[in-house]
Amino acid sequence: MKTAPAGALAPLSLEVRALEKRFSTGRPAVDGVSFSVPAGEIVVLLGPSGCGKTTTLRCVAGLEHPTAGSIHIGGRVVSSPADGVMVPPRRRDIGMVFQSYAVWPHMSVRQNVMYPLKHRPGTSADANRKVAETLELVGLSDYIDRPVVSLSGGQMQRVALARSLVYHPQLLLLDEPLSNLDAKLRLRLRDELRRILKRTGMTALYVTHDQAEAVVLGDRVGVMKDGKLLQMASPNEIYNRPATLFVANFTGASNEIAGRFIGDQRVDLAGQAMQVSPMQPLVAGEPVRIALRPESIALGRCDAVNGYRARVLDCRYLGTQTVYDLELFGQRLEGLELGTATRHQIGSEIDVSLPPQACWAYPDSGASQEA
Ligand SMILES: Nc1ncnc2c1ncn2[C@@H]1O[C@H](COP(=O)(O)OP(=O)(O)O)[C@@H](O)[C@H]1O
Ligand SMILES: [Mg+2]
Repeated sequence: MKTAPAGALAPLSLEVRALEKRFSTGRPAVDGVSFSVPAGEIVVLLGPSGCGKTTTLRCVAGLEHPTAGSIHIGGRVVSSPADGVMVPPRRRDIGMVFQSYAVWPHMSVRQNVMYPLKHRPGTSADANRKVAETLELVGLSDYIDRPVVSLSGGQMQRVALARSLVYHPQLLLLDEPLSNLDAKLRLRLRDELRRILKRTGMTALYVTHDQAEAVVLGDRVGVMKDGKLLQMASPNEIYNRPATLFVANFTGASNEIAGRFIGDQRVDLAGQAMQVSPMQPLVAGEPVRIALRPESIALGRCDAVNGYRARVLDCRYLGTQTVYDLELFGQRLEGLELGTATRHQIGSEIDVSLPPQACWAYPDSGASQEA
């Protein structure tokens, strides 16, 4: 369902091609990034701090001059250094929401949300109606006449969001908008944000370092590292078929086991064989790394395939789950079991099973990919 009133412009697609941004020092901040956001979709760029998310967003907004590549909004070129094209930010019809609550402290909620309409065509009745509709959308109708400084952090961030939505930009850019909120509020607003964005039908590019946020919000998620886009796919695909060891690690498959590929989906681990799922082409004899989620290790169970004995080195009881440090193949692995009881004792030897479909094997590039 879309709330955009008749006459509002349709959302536009975004296309980023071979984007590169070099600052005067260091390696490129954005290094050959290509992706597209179809009209009305939410695409999330996910990656650790410093990987180039904000720089990519600022290039799309026109706040940063790309070094190379091109950016297209609704099929129109807005940045292309090779062709001397650089459309200024105000001519890109983009809404932006940042980490800090960019609100005018001396104004009321209504005045804040009205602000972007001041210099746009339309009657004041129109403007009032748009402000009321947008505040309804973000759940702040009851606060319309409050001074903005009397609101909580989460409410202020909703005002900032309303202010970016009120003029129906054709593209919305959001840079870690939830990261200044406390944990509980962050979760609530995260779930709401997807509903709000989907109701507006807006095309959105959202950046975050939080994998849970990416999964909840994104129709598609792109994982970035060192200025490069490693994989862009549906959340389901990112979680079930991570293209690289880094993507697997960054999205929670935090165990890394080093071994040597035997061939036929089997890996040698210091004399023990393990069945794996190769995620990239592997050559017999080549060193590999296996990524495995802590929750994929079945504790206290001995399967016919990949059933082993492990020693419990340590455990941390978290209330609704227990995390175990295990010694297996002479390596330290983390296992996780749901439930309010801790079932295995420190120092004991237990059965463990590692389902082959959860043991993703990648070529060993040398460096550990720990995120
Ligand atoms: N104005 C700038 N001048 C020089 N280097 C910058 C500038 N802005 C960002 N960088 C560098 O570019 C890289 C990517 O930064 P950024 O896009 O902010 O990453 P992220 O948003 O993923 O944390 C970092 O190494 C950062 O230090
Ligand atoms: Mg950033």
